[in-house]
Amino acid sequence: MISERHLAPAALDSPTSRARVVEAVAPLVFRTDLEAPGFMLLDLGHEHSPARFRAHLVDLGRTLADHYALEFGDALRFVSCSRFDQQSPTRPHRDGGPDASLLLLGYEPTSVASTVYLLDYTRAAADRDLTPVEYLDAFNPAFGTNARLLDSYTEEADGFDPTRYQILIVNNSCLPYADRHRGMLGVLHHAVIFAPDRTRSRVIDSVLLGVTETGLDDARLDAFVVNGVAATA
Ligand SMILES: [Fe+2]
Repeated sequence: MISERHLAPAALDSPTSRARVVEAVAPLVFRTDLEAPGFMLLDLGHEHSPARFRAHLVDLGRTLADHYALEFGDALRFVSCSRFDQQSPTRPHRDGGPDASLLLLGYEPTSVASTVYLLDYTRAAADRDLTPVEYLDAFNPAFGTNARLLDSYTEEADGFDPTRYQILIVNNSCLPYADRHRGMLGVLHHAVIFAPDRTRSRVIDSVLLGVTETGLDDARLDAFVVNGVAATA
């Protein structure tokens, strides 16, 4: 299974090359079956600046939305964007957002060691004849020892290297398997930070897109790109 890809430094610079990346990534992320991973890690190397990196995140989001509209007939809009320094480990979770949503996590380079795990709770739910929402109601891995139930559904983001600019594209949906034709079968995610160090930072630029009526306008996306200003639609 390919779930990690090194990109050439200019691979996201032009609409044509971005579209090529999205063609390769989309079937893995907008999955219509449970064989596809539901996530993809893109490695952009060292040669960026945070603002250029955020521009890539937003441009990639737009190109993924174009692809989704063409292939699945629904409009994916920007729901929120934010920039934060995160060193506390997270329990497995789905980011809050529309039932059909896509998360773009942009990791800026850091010397703080960490890794990220993806958990296929949609497959775990289907194996128990539950919908993903019913699964979370009954066995939410954020609580108690429930996370163990997902051990055999968990994958580490292969090749994750915190010293490089990386984008993790995560299908963040909670649609049931019966709606798989929409390409929105989601996975959960969580991070493990091995030795948090407050003297250093671990910056994540996070962009959420979803099938929703209203989205962020270009002005707010520009403010996020240029200055990292957070916004919610
Ligand atoms: Fe999250």
